[in-house]
Amino acid sequence: MKEWSRAERYRMLRDKSEVEDLHKQIAASPYRQTFHIQPVTGLLNDPNGFITHNGEWHLFYQWFPFGPVHGLKYWYHVMSWDLVTWKNMGVCIRPDMYYDNRGAYSGSAFPTDGKIYLYYTGNHRDEDWTRIPYTCLVKLNDDGTVEKYTEPLFGPNPDYTEHQRDPKVIFDEKLHRYYILIGAQRKDKTGCILVYSSYHHNRGWHFQGELKVPGFDNFGSMWECPSIEHIGGKDVLIFCPQHIHIEGRGNQENHNGYIIGNMNWGSLTFTPEGSFHVLDFGFDSYAAECAANLKDPNKAVLVAWMGKPDSLYPVTDEEGWSGCLTLPRELSIRGRRLIQTPLPQLRNLRKKEVDPALMTLPEACEMEDMNDGGSHHIKILCKENGTGGIDILYDDSTRAITIDRSGLTNRFNVSRGEAITRPLENGLKMLRIFIDKSSVEIFVNDGDAVFSTRAFPTPEEHHFILNDRSQIKIWTLRPSVNDDFVI
Ligand code: FRU
Repeated sequence: MKEWSRAERYRMLRDKSEVEDLHKQIAASPYRQTFHIQPVTGLLNDPNGFITHNGEWHLFYQWFPFGPVHGLKYWYHVMSWDLVTWKNMGVCIRPDMYYDNRGAYSGSAFPTDGKIYLYYTGNHRDEDWTRIPYTCLVKLNDDGTVEKYTEPLFGPNPDYTEHQRDPKVIFDEKLHRYYILIGAQRKDKTGCILVYSSYHHNRGWHFQGELKVPGFDNFGSMWECPSIEHIGGKDVLIFCPQHIHIEGRGNQENHNGYIIGNMNWGSLTFTPEGSFHVLDFGFDSYAAECAANLKDPNKAVLVAWMGKPDSLYPVTDEEGWSGCLTLPRELSIRGRRLIQTPLPQLRNLRKKEVDPALMTLPEACEMEDMNDGGSHHIKILCKENGTGGIDILYDDSTRAITIDRSGLTNRFNVSRGEAITRPLENGLKMLRIFIDKSSVEIFVNDGDAVFSTRAFPTPEEHHFILNDRSQIKIWTLRPSVNDDFVI
């Protein structure tokens, strides 16, 4: 792939014509998704500013316009009425102020006085390329444009390294105070969360201290994209600890997970009631964000980047684009675990039922696999003769499920591991599998576990085989995410 110079990575997008040809080129890709959010051009990473407001869902993504690499980041805006059908709204935050001169990095949304406010990290760098991260605020106007504040809310804390970013805004009703969580790194290179607070959404912010999370003082080198959600009477700390090996996660170093517990804003202590759990057991999932303003005490809606910071996706990189988001999922708590289920309204995407006896998979489809107990093996995206593809294997003697993508012709990120095994407390009863043109999301037992992975099947790899008596249903899914050129 082409080498990108710093000048190429950090050039501003002045006019949409600069990426029009790139859009035409990638629109012809056989791997463009049909019901997943993907970059209009270039690279997508984290979801940002996810919020429901006045019956609409707004979501933004980290966007580098010019190609499949990380560089000067913008926030790109997409909108939906049902969380399934999405339309492109265009660029929202441009890195055009001194405080965000090298990128408008990740952050969150919060409604105040009937308006949506977006809090993000201004990734400032000086002439020596020293990073100074600012916490910044913009107001989103009804027409999708933004009003930027002339100054950031606050700058970095000198007692930590330059890695301080990804503000998550929370309003505590009891204390009548706004809080901002910032993912950070201590000078001893361990990860943590910094807490700021204010009585006003747009001024008077003060550093309150580090979030205390007993038992997690030395857990990874940086915590990216932190958040605390209140679901089903519990608090859930969601974050991405980096450079840490977690059992069962093979060679992967960057994770997205959660701890269930109890948050005390007065003492800034999150008391865990259990261990750290990985959110999504697949290969490609990171930087998850829950929608703000949901107002349902028992649920959250979560979306993540279907990618990883240390991974490459050579097939689409060659075509000039990279990344997509996962399907939004519904989160609830069962026992000591988060349950993730596909949204009920996804059923509206079902177009027609396909006869499973044909053993073929439409390019965008949903598969439902009801299991009668016992061990189970299904191969998807394999060739007609049953070779290759992704193996989904459940071994009832160990009650563990394995997802192995090493059989795909287009292999990628091999060194990070191509097979993941995960114990299933409740055995295997049902799988719901969503296959888009370049992704697979496998939901186990209505939410016990989810595995998200990118996959780039060749034209021959659109079959499946079953080695037992489970009942399969397959539906083609209609496209629901616009792929038009809106900048
Ligand atoms: C996570 C992340 C964030 C940062 C953003 C930059 O993937 O590194 O911490 O704000 O991506 O694009």
